[in-house]
Amino acid sequence: MKAIKLLCLLLHLSLALLYATADHGPTSGTSIIFATLGRLDYAFDIFTLPIRDPPTKTKELQITDGKSVNFNGHFPCPSPSLLSLLPNKTLINPTGQQNSPPLNLIYVTERGGSSNIFYDAVYVNNPRSTRSRSALETPTRVQVPLLEGKSGLSMKDKPTVSGDYLIYVSTHEDPHEPRTSWAAVYSTELTNGMTRRLSPHGIADFSPAVSPSGVYTAVASYGERGWNGEVEELSTDIYIFVTRDGTNRVKVVEHGGWPSWVDESTLYFHRRSEEDNWISIYKAILPSQGPISIESVIVERVTPPGLHAFTPAASPGNNKFIAVTTRRPNSDYRHVELFDLVNNEFIELTRLVSPQTHHLNPFISPDSTLVGYHRCRGATEDKKSAHLLLENVKSPAPDISLFRIDGSFPSFSPTGDRIAYVDFPGLYVVNRDGSNRRQVFTGMAFSTAWNPARRGIVYTSAGPTFASESTEVDIISITVDDDLGMINNFKKLTINGENNAFPSVSPDGKWVVFRSGRSGHKNLYIMDALEGEKGGLFRLTEGPWSDTMCNWSPDGEWIAFASDRENPGSGSFVLFLIHPNGTGLRKLVQSGSAGRANHPSFSPDGNSIVFTSDYGGISAEPISNPHHYQPYGEIFTIKLDGSDLKRWTQNSYEDGTPAWGPTYMKPKDVEWPGEGPQCSFEDCHWLNKMPILGDWVAPLDSTKPECGTGA
Ligand SMILES: *[C@@H]1O[C@H](CO)[C@@H](O)[C@H](O)[C@H]1NC(C)=O
Ligand SMILES: *[C@@H]1O[C@H](CO)[C@@H](O)[C@H](O)[C@H]1NC(C)=O
Repeated sequence: MKAIKLLCLLLHLSLALLYATADHGPTSGTSIIFATLGRLDYAFDIFTLPIRDPPTKTKELQITDGKSVNFNGHFPCPSPSLLSLLPNKTLINPTGQQNSPPLNLIYVTERGGSSNIFYDAVYVNNPRSTRSRSALETPTRVQVPLLEGKSGLSMKDKPTVSGDYLIYVSTHEDPHEPRTSWAAVYSTELTNGMTRRLSPHGIADFSPAVSPSGVYTAVASYGERGWNGEVEELSTDIYIFVTRDGTNRVKVVEHGGWPSWVDESTLYFHRRSEEDNWISIYKAILPSQGPISIESVIVERVTPPGLHAFTPAASPGNNKFIAVTTRRPNSDYRHVELFDLVNNEFIELTRLVSPQTHHLNPFISPDSTLVGYHRCRGATEDKKSAHLLLENVKSPAPDISLFRIDGSFPSFSPTGDRIAYVDFPGLYVVNRDGSNRRQVFTGMAFSTAWNPARRGIVYTSAGPTFASESTEVDIISITVDDDLGMINNFKKLTINGENNAFPSVSPDGKWVVFRSGRSGHKNLYIMDALEGEKGGLFRLTEGPWSDTMCNWSPDGEWIAFASDRENPGSGSFVLFLIHPNGTGLRKLVQSGSAGRANHPSFSPDGNSIVFTSDYGGISAEPISNPHHYQPYGEIFTIKLDGSDLKRWTQNSYEDGTPAWGPTYMKPKDVEWPGEGPQCSFEDCHWLNKMPILGDWVAPLDSTKPECGTGA
């Protein structure tokens, strides 16, 4: 027995050694590129408006610096620990106005390609002033990263400073369970960086809020129940625990999210009303004495039906008003409003000032004189806010660079010097340094693949995405040679008008594997890469299910694909491998019994696959973000033997359609020439549903992805 154990151990060790050396083998010096729905159009900054009675039309003041995205702010009380982080010279106000102390702001930022929490001391001429502002009054600031170098490349969210501690969400611990969120609440001591996990191990918590005294923290959580795949409103409950160490955790409200405390025994939260279906603000009153249990908590509705109100923000001891975000039936935009708790009425704020953009996740200053929130900054004159074609994302592997592209379905040319991608409704080719971008196909198309053996030939599926088996979608090959400079120089390879998509070419350039709905089900086929179906067609898989998103390995031995064959029609997809001659079918990766693994792409050495999955669950309440069909989408890699599952992205967005290229691209942002942020992202589609007269109005956009992430 002992001998066998030892043998296993030795075997294990030698395998580990093998993998360790393989890590610095042929995949090194490569790049992964992926798409994130909408993200490169966010350009979020934190803005503030004065709160006064009656509200006036003052200009919003931008208080973050216009770099990357900045969101989910918090106005802390400036504790000695926080102030000690400022360099001494900061205590002398650089504006020279000794009587105006800095505005203290804590927020999440994604600059430098990873998520971090920053503290800015911002010197502005009185932000409570009603005067319109001039360019001379540009804020000056001192900026302190709070978690630099700590807890690695994780998503950080919803920070609060309470006394000596920073309380926040981070996703740096892998619970090693498929479809389980990595989001958990931590506290970090500001002066020494000591970090403690407050959420129980294996339990995900979202949207933490610290009580005014700092004693309690409230969170939205599934508790032991876990996530069952929701992507709109989450069926979370509200728990509270002792902030110091996470103990005395107790569920206080069934069904609710985004808590915010007004005093030690009162918190506001949002939930959808079961009576009238409007998302509304509620109040929970905890017993001020004796043990707290769910039975001892009184819950009252605060905002009336007739509009959606969510993400409430209270300020300590303020029983006069709260700030909320609304979606009103007569507005296409999300706005920040106050809700007057005495007169039970809304007081509009941001719609009076900037009506045509979304405003998210308000917060109130401790003295209740300012409301903060984030919105897209729009194109700015000062050029510091560029629009990115490729955003460098911090990579968890030093020798593989990672980029987010402003488009979808990217693929690398055989030499890795060019990228083809989709920007609906066209197909584009661009040099990897951002130069020579040009449209090569003007029709509706999705998925791109280069012919590895022939120069300048890109394959795509031309037609609508997520369409039925019988909808006409064709595989076409496009000649993209720059010398010819031609557009729409393509050849149709499929005939008969069935739904054919996701082409991938064999390494010798002779064959194309693709999925087709021609039998009434989506299965895989192989056809001649030059002549198309006319030159030869073989069926690779067959069955009453969907096989799709196929990718041919660089050595020609394998085709990787996503399939729902284990539960047809369920929306659950598993990655499989099969030899091009139809033998050797095996399962590569499955994200739990109901999960999703999609869009496989081989590494250039053929030993690993990059793909999209819901393996990491979701990382934040979707209502606190713009629209994402599949907010759980994250990028993962796995070795062909099923070992070494690795997460590459950490955020609450929809990441998808990854591709793995043969060269190491310098980890540096690539800008669009001459274009500022577009602000053209969409609000959550499900908030467009207005439950008027008890009926549901159809959503403006009901397109739902059939499977997989990224279109
Ligand atoms: C700030 O000044 C104090 C007192 O003069 C000194 O002890 C401290 O080290 C200084 N801190 C920094 C960050 O320079
Ligand atoms: C199918 O292809 C695989 C991989 O190339 C090969 O090992 C196997 O022998 C082939 N089987 C048949 C029946 O041709």
